[in-house]
Amino acid sequence: MTRSRLNTCLLAILFVLPLAAAAALSARQEGRTVWDGVYTEEQAARGELVYQDQCTFCHLDDLMGDAFATPLIADAFTLRWDGGTLGDLMIVTQVTMPADQPNTLTGEQVADVIAFLLQMNEYPAGDQELPADQEALEAIAIVGEGGQ
Ligand code: HEC
Repeated sequence: MTRSRLNTCLLAILFVLPLAAAAALSARQEGRTVWDGVYTEEQAARGELVYQDQCTFCHLDDLMGDAFATPLIADAFTLRWDGGTLGDLMIVTQVTMPADQPNTLTGEQVADVIAFLLQMNEYPAGDQELPADQEALEAIAIVGEGGQ
């Protein structure tokens, strides 16, 4: 390696890589969480209809679940999904639920029912709907209040 190439390499290591790492870090810090008002009240109301139609049979009206279906509320919900993203929740719901006929809901129905679950778990509503787009939902982290 010539001296000038070596210098270029050193420059890359010393300056470019740390910049890239800093950019990634700030993207993560700027990333949205479930506390940022990521669904609307109206969407949650639509999601409630989906829930009543497709989910209450097993998860019950109070979301506490029957002996087989897990609760979808309070600690059972937050601890299960803590550290994950709404994208994880979307894919699991889409592919495994309703357990007796999985993969039958549209993306919109899944997004709406997730909005309803967020409302029931007391995450705040906002003025933009949750998109029916798994990749976009990957950018919304499920964290405790205050980002913990
Ligand atoms: C026929 C019964 C049944 C119906 C209907 C049903 N579920 Fe479930 N659900 C289950 C069972 C059983 C589990 C626990 C086992 C599992 O994770 O597969 C579960 C688990 C879940 C989980 C947690 C999965 C995990 O990995 O922790 C979510 C979220 C969920 N259901 C959402 C829904 C939603 C939303 C609907 C309505 C669209 C729905 N379920 C309809 C039976 C059902």
